[in-house]
Amino acid sequence: MASPKLVAMANNLLVLGIESSCDETGVALVRASGKLTPNLLAHALHSQVQMHQAYGGVVPELASRDHIRRVLPLTEQVLSEANQKLNDIDVVAYTRGPGLAGALLVGAGIACALGAALDKPVLGIHHLEGHLLSPFLSTDPPEFPFVALLVSGGHTQLMRVEGVGQYELLGETIDDAAGEAFDKSAKLLGLGYPGGPALAKLAELGNPTAFKLPRPLLHSGNLDFSFAGLKTAVLTQTHKISKALGQPVAAWSDIQRADLAASTQAAIVEVLVKKALAALDETLLPRLVVAGGVGANRQLREELNLQCAKRKVRVHYPELHLCTDNGAMIAMAAAMRLQHQVQEASQDYTFEVRPRWPLATLGIKD
Ligand code: KG4
Ligand code: ZN
Repeated sequence: MASPKLVAMANNLLVLGIESSCDETGVALVRASGKLTPNLLAHALHSQVQMHQAYGGVVPELASRDHIRRVLPLTEQVLSEANQKLNDIDVVAYTRGPGLAGALLVGAGIACALGAALDKPVLGIHHLEGHLLSPFLSTDPPEFPFVALLVSGGHTQLMRVEGVGQYELLGETIDDAAGEAFDKSAKLLGLGYPGGPALAKLAELGNPTAFKLPRPLLHSGNLDFSFAGLKTAVLTQTHKISKALGQPVAAWSDIQRADLAASTQAAIVEVLVKKALAALDETLLPRLVVAGGVGANRQLREELNLQCAKRKVRVHYPELHLCTDNGAMIAMAAAMRLQHQVQEASQDYTFEVRPRWPLATLGIKD
């Protein structure tokens, strides 16, 4: 492959970010001036939730096709909202991985085509780095270094973050992710897809101590997680109750379902909070950043706020609407990588996506 033409960037950059790794198409524009925290000018999102709902989960082929339909109209929308023209864009950033291969290829393909057409450089971004840096889009951005608790649909990780591009893995799930535990338990409770927010909503009405559910690896002495056993315990409980009642889940009383939802949420939250606190103890870092879809969970935020306040640890979250997938975090991560000179944008428009891509190897092997 020809060596990429790396492009030295000016001080004042307009970065377009395209996110298409799963079931949301996100596009955003940020402005990076000097070393200042980049400024979000506009962002637009199309969620495919309704389309996938009929199938009970994400259908990868449908996801890719829908991304194709959405990216350019969303790009026009953000340009118009930010009062900018296509030619004003200095860098086109896209999610290179991890995620669904076909969905990633759509974003990468469109980004590289746009870059080539505009004669502007492109930058492939790690989706989890986007999540991790998304709190910098909030009104109360963190400072480096910090511990990051990354809790999304596919990942549950604790990282030590020294700066942009400096991510050390402290612990991660050995099976299901926290988001998966929410989603799979929600499915067992008949809440459909996507289950996390629905389970959290139902849990508000229930008693979190109604059912005794396991807290896997809580006392493992390391910072790893495991949520597969919890899902099995929820399955066992649903069978037990349904058998006793002689009724399927759909016929249970609202309070029975709410109690199981609240107990499930309490188990997930307790493990996440205890492990995050253990990571703070181990690293002696004074700040925690929570990112990824599960970071929107109210119970998790309340517990973390309470425990971190007791320890005088600052805790930062992305704005609620930027917890789940979006283009703003991709544009932001690209802008910060350029500002901190961790990566240069490139005018090599051949692209390759990385459906599996551990965050801690970022920059080690491309
Ligand atoms: O970060 P994200 O949007 O996508 C991935 O990169 O995976 O995370 C999606 C995950 C899903 O599992 C979803 O159920 C979960 O985040 N989620 C929640 C809440 N909002 C989203 N889980 C619990 N409570 C919520 N409020
Ligand atoms: Zn995500």
